[in-house]
Amino acid sequence: MYVVFLGAPGAGKGTQASVLAEKLGLAHISTGDVLRDAVRRETELGKQAKGYMERGELVPDALVVDLVVDRLSQEDAARGAVLDGFPRNVPQARALDDALKARGAAVDIAVYLRVPEPVLIARLAGRWECSICRAPYHELTNPPRRAGVCDQCGGPLTQRADDRPETVKRRLQVYFEQTAPLLDYYRERGVLAEVDGERPIPEVAEQVLAVVRRAEAGEGSRTSREG
Ligand code: AP5
Repeated sequence: MYVVFLGAPGAGKGTQASVLAEKLGLAHISTGDVLRDAVRRETELGKQAKGYMERGELVPDALVVDLVVDRLSQEDAARGAVLDGFPRNVPQARALDDALKARGAAVDIAVYLRVPEPVLIARLAGRWECSICRAPYHELTNPPRRAGVCDQCGGPLTQRADDRPETVKRRLQVYFEQTAPLLDYYRERGVLAEVDGERPIPEVAEQVLAVVRRAEAGEGSRTSREG
């Protein structure tokens, strides 16, 4: 099964994608995580992507599409995957359709996490993540048990460079201009499910699982609304 998460920066895509991937035993593919890792390791991809990410712009499709197609061909993605942060525009969505079609598959469900803009801004301002396992935290809504320390692996927590207020503003603009049109793209294909992403994390996770189970059972979600 192939699940795509859609939503603005801070909507909770990373948080929910990792929970869902673990529950379903599917690969979790986060282009943001892959790109940040490449930037930290100063690989060729990282050097090319860094400036775009710091400005809150999308990294060019030519750099991102191949890495996702390649990742999808790895063994742990053979049964399916949960994609978070990809696709980000219509050309990427078409490239994903083509790559899945070549495997006799398709996007089974696109889960849109609906969250109002002021909530997104507050979430990004208070976000922390583990510098080792990348588990996400929030200083108010999802704090670690011990300040500054990851509950899961004990690693130190850090804040993302692109969570500065000016960059967040640009990321939101880019989302509305380039990524929001994907809602219609998946709605027209009958695979869009909307979930209220403003609820507490465990409640959102329950709603997400419910819409995914429905899609899995072939109940034609489809363009459903939860919460
Ligand atoms: P990416 O890493 O994908 O960032 P994003 O889309 O801006 O999304 P975020 O990771 O900021 O938010 P999220 O929705 O995952 O929320 P999270 O779960 O962390 O991309 C970064 C950059 O990489 C892009 O700007 C671009 O440059 C580049 N890039 C990536 N993919 C690309 C692509 N395909 N093409 C081109 N360029 C690409 O949650 C946020 C916070 O809220 C956390 O603190 C969390 O604990 C908290 N929280 C989550 N859910 C809830 C809840 N229900 N209630 C309360 N708090 C919550």
